[in-house]
Amino acid sequence: MIRVVVGGATGRLGSLICNSVRQQKDMQLVGGIVSQAGGHAGGEIAPGVLAFGADQIAEALANADVYLDATSASAAEQNLLRVPSLGVNCVVGTTGLSEDFLKRFEGLVAENDISAVVTPNFSVGVNVFWKMCGVLAAVLEEYDVEIIETHHDKKKDAPSGTALKAAQIVSEVTGIEKMIHGRSGVTGARGREIGIHSIRAGDVVGEHTIIFAGNKERIELTHRAHSREAFAEGAVTAIRWVSARRDSKVHSMAEVLGL
Ligand SMILES: NC(=O)c1ccc[n+]([C@@H]2O[C@H](COP(=O)([O-])OP(=O)(O)OC[C@H]3O[C@@H](n4cnc5c(N)ncnc54)[C@H](OP(=O)(O)O)[C@@H]3O)[C@@H](O)[C@H]2O)c1
Repeated sequence: MIRVVVGGATGRLGSLICNSVRQQKDMQLVGGIVSQAGGHAGGEIAPGVLAFGADQIAEALANADVYLDATSASAAEQNLLRVPSLGVNCVVGTTGLSEDFLKRFEGLVAENDISAVVTPNFSVGVNVFWKMCGVLAAVLEEYDVEIIETHHDKKKDAPSGTALKAAQIVSEVTGIEKMIHGRSGVTGARGREIGIHSIRAGDVVGEHTIIFAGNKERIELTHRAHSREAFAEGAVTAIRWVSARRDSKVHSMAEVLGL
């Protein structure tokens, strides 16, 4: 039985992951971690499953095999640094994490001989989208690249982690380093750059379009998440995959999915 604790258990994504974990025959939800301020700490996130405050991480993870984080960047950057020394494998879905933090976390995973999966998007479709971004960038190297992402009006970070990863993939393939986050004013002619644009509106779960435009044509590739269930399903797959590992490494969702 894989014993799972979910950080952000009361959130939009975390609550769905809790439900999915509880439906798996080989998994048991043994706890949730929530903010001190939210008023849920000390209660239950499901019948018989306690909600721990962020200051009780060691207690919450005492009987856990995998910790899944779906909180916020600021919460994750504090909470996750305490998990590797507890010997618990991690799955991190929280977005907006800094490069510095990710390097530090990677070091802690190695030092403490655990395994982790870190991904700004758990869905199968987005992981295929990223792969296609690399393929298109390689053959359309001279085309202008623009990325547009749309999310619900409660999303805390912009651009989305998914858009940033798509930009990073294109950058690695083409060598384009300059990223432009929106444009306004007298911008002059477009240079060799990747444009990234964020739309925040209504209850949109998540949409990403990458445009490769030449002089006489363009290709647009779009992924639309219809439901957060797509993320929860991928999260459960990542939990199962990482639970069987102890290789001191941080892995991507592409590795989990064998892409
Ligand atoms: N990887 C993916 O596929 C994917 C997909 C969708 C979203 N995301 C990312 O997942 C994260 C969560 O998104 P969401 O929409 O679910 O957010 P949300 O609804 O705002 O939920 C945030 C959760 O984090 C908890 N929290 C806040 N501060 C905390 C702290 N200091 N310690 C522990 N828990 C804390 C909140 O608890 P309280 O209720 O107590 O405040 C709440 O349960 C975001 O970074 C989002 O971008 C990733």
